[in-house]
Amino acid sequence: MPLHDVTADACMHTSTTIRELGEHEGQVVTLRGWLAGRRSGGKILFLTLRDGTGLCQAIVEAQQADAFAATEKLPRESSLSVTGAVRRDARAAGGFEIAVQQVAVLHAGGEFPITPKPHGIDFLMEHRHLWLRSRRPATILRIRHTLIETCRTFFNARGFTLIDTPILSPGAGEDAQTLFPVDYFGETVYLTQTGQLYLESACMALGKVYCFGPTFRAEKSKTRRHLTEFWMIEPEVAFAELGDVMALAEALICACVATVLARHEADLIALGRDLEPLRRVQAPFPRMTYSEVAERLRSDATRQQIETEMAQERRQLQAWIDQRGTLELKLAGTQRTWEQDKLQLEIHALRTEVEDLERDLENRPRHMELAASFTWGKDLGGSDETIISRQFERPVFVTHYPAEAKAFYMKRVPGDRPVVLNMDLLAPEGYGEIIGGSQRVDVLEAAIRDKGLKPEDYDWYLDLRRYGSVPHGGFGLGIERTLTWLCGLKHVRETIPFPRTLGRMYP
Ligand code: 4AD
Ligand code: MG
Repeated sequence: MPLHDVTADACMHTSTTIRELGEHEGQVVTLRGWLAGRRSGGKILFLTLRDGTGLCQAIVEAQQADAFAATEKLPRESSLSVTGAVRRDARAAGGFEIAVQQVAVLHAGGEFPITPKPHGIDFLMEHRHLWLRSRRPATILRIRHTLIETCRTFFNARGFTLIDTPILSPGAGEDAQTLFPVDYFGETVYLTQTGQLYLESACMALGKVYCFGPTFRAEKSKTRRHLTEFWMIEPEVAFAELGDVMALAEALICACVATVLARHEADLIALGRDLEPLRRVQAPFPRMTYSEVAERLRSDATRQQIETEMAQERRQLQAWIDQRGTLELKLAGTQRTWEQDKLQLEIHALRTEVEDLERDLENRPRHMELAASFTWGKDLGGSDETIISRQFERPVFVTHYPAEAKAFYMKRVPGDRPVVLNMDLLAPEGYGEIIGGSQRVDVLEAAIRDKGLKPEDYDWYLDLRRYGSVPHGGFGLGIERTLTWLCGLKHVRETIPFPRTLGRMYP
């Protein structure tokens, strides 16, 4: 169907957006958007319009016969332009509504696949290109925007220069096991895992630099924390030691939390985020060494903590099951469609919560076992990070990991079993690692050989240690992991517009 030409209809009235409706109280305006919902009250239609800036109610009375006929059966998510008077209404979503006089349907769509009825996550992910129009994903993506903007502003204001590092890369920047190969005119190159090595060279030129871009890891991990394509912001600073790097990370996280809280309080509440734990995120963050963490994991206190948590979770599980029962009874007792839809959504949400919690509870004994038998030398696993990060109200720095568990570029503290001057920042409430960083190694060639890599592949990088090397360091903050924590989500897949995971490359 050809699109209706609205310019002719709209030019007679001020064209505005839902966000700006308040500036036009009492005037007749034109809004363009999509039909997000409709309720019928017999001789009156309550349309919900969506235009990317907000939601608003548009009221069509039967006397407006053309407008009424055009919208009475119009499928959800059709695009339209409405003209009408702006009225203040305290009950309306944005405080204003429109008394519709005229409607132009721009494109009458088919039946929209995503309905007010509950859908499973796989169905929604399969329709991610349409699901983005729903309130929850749009809210998360707006917070993502703020998070990214805050990080950029943070570094820009502190004299950092943005350096765009390459995405095609000749070798591993992190772990050779998780490289994505690309055929580069007959030669194998890789999608970048980090901009760090290039940033190190740029920091020797510009002092303080950062990069922000997509990074790729062929990690065969089907967890709630792993994407194969994710966005990382990485600062690198010349003349910096581990303590400087940690102070920078701490200030960055405080800025991110403060800005997201200031701009998105209502959004976070709509996502069901408890704001109190976020408000408690203040400097200084606790700091612990890896060896202290290893001991903590094996301690009786930790075992008891996990047992207490499990008991709480079992009570929570029962409460949700009871609540679900109550809602199911209510559903059986109502004939009203809107109430049935609402109850079905609530029941579905509870069912998902119950399933997730049941799965968590099933895994707990194994996680408890892993912690109790934790041996020095291993990297911390996801469940270990969860356990530790639940023991603190603020993000926790864990430093001095065994060199054997970490990448080749970290500065070593010599010893029988050397440790490195690194830090991982674990977000509280069980979220785990959101930042990884370190002071950089100076004796590079040996470190490269040690990891079974070939120094000749890193010749250019070795140059940095041949000509005026200085102590330097930096870190990488994963945007999606950080956002998962800030929004209080269970899974990282909702924090990126089109997630790439072990199981998903579509749409
Ligand atoms: O700890 P990582 O691997 O550190 C680096 O890449 C360093 N080169 C950074 C640097 O020092 N310049 O990754 C940093 C962060 C992690 O803390 C995590 O937030 C995120 O990147 N990250 C992932 N996010 C989603 N999915 C994955 N598979 C991720 N792997 C790492
Ligand atoms: Mg890491």
